[in-house]
Amino acid sequence: GKDGYRHYMEKELHEHPVVIGQTLQRVIDPVSKAVALPKFDFSLAEVPRVTMTACGSAYYAALVGRYWLEAEARVPVDIDVASELRYRAPPLTPGGMGLLISQSGETADTLAALRLLRRSDQRIVSILNVETSTMGRDSDVTLGMVAGPEISVASTKAFTAQLSVLAALTIAMGQARGTIEASRAQQMVSSLFDLPSRAAEVFQRVADIQAMAVIVAAARDVLYLGRGVCFPIALEGALKLKEISYIHAEAYAAGEMKHGPISLIDKDVPIVVIAPSTILFDKTLSNIQEAKARGGRILAFTDEKGAARLSGIAEQMVVLPDVDAFVAPILFTIPVQILAYEVALLKGTDVDQPRNLAKSVTVE
Ligand code: F6R
Repeated sequence: GKDGYRHYMEKELHEHPVVIGQTLQRVIDPVSKAVALPKFDFSLAEVPRVTMTACGSAYYAALVGRYWLEAEARVPVDIDVASELRYRAPPLTPGGMGLLISQSGETADTLAALRLLRRSDQRIVSILNVETSTMGRDSDVTLGMVAGPEISVASTKAFTAQLSVLAALTIAMGQARGTIEASRAQQMVSSLFDLPSRAAEVFQRVADIQAMAVIVAAARDVLYLGRGVCFPIALEGALKLKEISYIHAEAYAAGEMKHGPISLIDKDVPIVVIAPSTILFDKTLSNIQEAKARGGRILAFTDEKGAARLSGIAEQMVVLPDVDAFVAPILFTIPVQILAYEVALLKGTDVDQPRNLAKSVTVE
């Protein structure tokens, strides 16, 4: 049941902190703090390249994973949505890793991509919520998330669970390849274990998210901006808004705005920015100022330090707890998904069963 929540989506949003915690316990030994993944019958140090693929929200999780694997584990990564990868005929080095992400493990496009990767002699590693699924059976290694059943058609908690597993895989690969030292690994692990309590604090900000939702619900088009690991979170926010509120939304890497979409901006197009005060904050801020100068209304997800810089620029802010930059995309996903939920409530749409969508897309 819905345990007293109005929708499964609301219930599942509230499960983020627990799901992140449970998933981390599955992939990182809580006592020794060492990453503890299932056995691979190949060496993570010797993987020449990782080819990542998924669909929808799972693809956005993969995009975050690419930043991590490239920057932290220094492994070359190729990535595409499964429906495109399938038909690209990518030349792949035998012995590479094919890394798939799927909540259901039954998505037809992702399964077809898995078969292409298999035929290209890739080692198949899948990050799955349903480990008994077809993808689970067809993989060499399954990395389970512990998200529990996801009933709401729009994916929520599976996304942060996917990121939690990807974070652990990044640490394991970086250690195997010698790019992440023991002290850095410790710091990454402790920032992950800090997340469930920081995630719980997000729910103290719901009133601020609701104030933002009022502005978004009145719009016909919304832009989402982010940079680096927060660009995929902007994509996730825009997708969730489209899916359940039927408001048109686009996400851009904030630095790309000036190459085109800035022409869309006026007072009727709210701009939602995902801007934790990490290394890219100043760059994002100057992109925000460009939008503001053209009449854009800025709605910002940020932290204390970011809020100090955004006051007078952002019309509405949601100020999140401070976390290590490594885990910021996981934390920032939660309020961005809540925003879509709150907008859908205001619009009165069928939140758990949005039109034209199915939970598991088993046709190509
Ligand atoms: C978004 C959503 C979809 C799924 C996509 C992949 O809210 O639910 O975009 O993420 O269809 O599904 P799985 O992860 O089951 O392969």
